[in-house]
Amino acid sequence: MTAQRMAADTTASPPTPDGVPLFGNGLAFARNPVDAMERWATLGDIVRLDIPGQEMYLVTGPALIEQILVDDHESFTISPAQRETFSGVEDHAVTTTTGERWERLRRALHPAFTRDAMGRYADRTVETTAACIEAWDDGEQIDLYEEMRRLTVTVLADALLDVDIRGREAVVMAAADALVDRANFRRPGQLLPDWVPTPTDRRFERTVTELDAFVDDIITERRGTDRGKDLCSVLLDAHDAGDLSLAEVRENVVAMLLAGHDSPSVALTHVWRVLDEHPDHRAMLTEEAQTVVGNEQPASELLPGLEHTRHVVAETLRLYPPTLGVMRQATEPVTLGGYDLPAGAQFLLPQWPVHRDDRFWDDPTTFDPTRWERATNRPEYAYFPFSGGPRNCVGMHFAKQELALVVATILATVELAVSVDGPLTFTPSLQLRPEPAIEAIVTRR
Ligand code: HEM
Repeated sequence: MTAQRMAADTTASPPTPDGVPLFGNGLAFARNPVDAMERWATLGDIVRLDIPGQEMYLVTGPALIEQILVDDHESFTISPAQRETFSGVEDHAVTTTTGERWERLRRALHPAFTRDAMGRYADRTVETTAACIEAWDDGEQIDLYEEMRRLTVTVLADALLDVDIRGREAVVMAAADALVDRANFRRPGQLLPDWVPTPTDRRFERTVTELDAFVDDIITERRGTDRGKDLCSVLLDAHDAGDLSLAEVRENVVAMLLAGHDSPSVALTHVWRVLDEHPDHRAMLTEEAQTVVGNEQPASELLPGLEHTRHVVAETLRLYPPTLGVMRQATEPVTLGGYDLPAGAQFLLPQWPVHRDDRFWDDPTTFDPTRWERATNRPEYAYFPFSGGPRNCVGMHFAKQELALVVATILATVELAVSVDGPLTFTPSLQLRPEPAIEAIVTRR
C-alpha cells in the first residue's frame, strides 16, 4: 500500500491527476474513460478529479466503496448526473427517487424479485431465448450487440411484464440510445446551457414520448388480462391497493425496460467475444450446455448444473463491467480515507479499475473463470458489478440467472464466431457500451 493510500491528514486534499487547461481531467475521460480511470486509480484509493464546476472524487479502495454504499449510506444520495440523465423519463421511478418515495417503490417491487419469482422467470427466459435464436439462419452474419439487445429486451418484457414485444423492441432500444447519448461526455452539447435545445435533446424527447406511449399500451393490455406474479402485475396490484400512482407504475415499467436490458446485453456481447478468444472454455461451456439444457428439467432447476457457465459470466462481469461505475453525492460533510470532504461532493466508484487491481486479483487482466472456484480473502467490494448496500441493483438475481440461461440456451444449439472491428473502446457514458462494430457468424449445430 502506498503512502498516499494511507494518507490520514484531514486538512489535505486527495491527489489530483494532471489535466489540461480549461478541461482539467475531463478531456482524458471523454477520450477513453477506462484507460483514464485505470491510470488515476494508481494515485490512491481516493483521487480528486479536476472537472470544471464540480467537486468530484474517484474512489477505488474497496473499504471506502463499502463505507459509501453500505456503512455510511445514509450520508450519500444518488448523483446529480444520474438525476439529470433520467429527468423527464423516470422522475417517479426507483432509479431516480430518494427518501420515502424510493423506499416505498423498492418495497412495492420486492414481490417481483423473490426466489419464487425467479423460478417463474427462468422458464420464460429459456423459451424466449430459444424462440429468438430460431430467427437466425445458418451462416448468417449478425450485429452481435444489436442482437443481444433485441434478445434481452424481449426476454425482459416476456418474463417481467408478460408481454410479447417481438418486432417492437426498437422503441425501447431507441430510448436507451437517447439516454446514453444524453450522458455522453464527448457530446458537444454537454458544454451548452440546459435551455439551448440540441439535436440530442430533441431526439431524447421524441424517443421518450414514443416509449411512454408504448408502455401505456402495455399497461392497458395488462390491466385487461388476468394478473400473475410478474413485475407488471405486482405494480398494478400496488396501484389498485392505493400504494402507487399510475405515473409511478408507468415510469417504473419504463425504468425496468431501460435498466434491465442494456447492461445484460453488454455483458452477453462480451461473453461471446471472450469465449471466441478462449476456445477451451467455449468447448467446456458447450458440453455443459448440451448436457444440462433440453434434458427435460424445468428451467428453474438448470442453474446448479451450469457452474462453469456462471463462472464465465462472473469473470466477464469482472473484466468488462457494463456500467461506468456507481455514483453518489454526499448529503453532509463526510470523512473518507482520512480526508474531510464537504456536503455536495460527488463520488464515482468505478468497477473497471477495482476489478483489475493487482492488490486483490492474481493476474488481474487474465480471463480465468476458474478463479471463482477457489476460496479467497479478498475484500467484498473488490467486486461489485451490481453495486451494493440498500440501493444495489434491483435486477441482480434476475440478471445473473438470465445471463447463465441465455448463454447455455444459445450454446446448446448455435456457435457464434465473433469479429471485432478495431480496438475495444467504450462509449464515455453511464453505460460502458462497446464502440467498435462486433459481428458474429451463426453456425447451427
Ligand atoms: C449485467 C446486468 C446488470 C448490471 C451489471 C447492473 C448494474 C447495476 C448497477 C451498478 C446499478 C446502480 C446501483 C447503485 O446506484 O448503487 C443498478 C441499478 C439498477 N438496476 Fe441493474 N444491472 C443489471 C441488470 C439489471 C436488470 C436485469 C434489471 C431489471 C430487471 C435492473 C434494474 C435496475 C434498477 C431498477 C436499478 C436502480 C436501483 C435503485 O436505484 O434503487 N438491472 N444496476
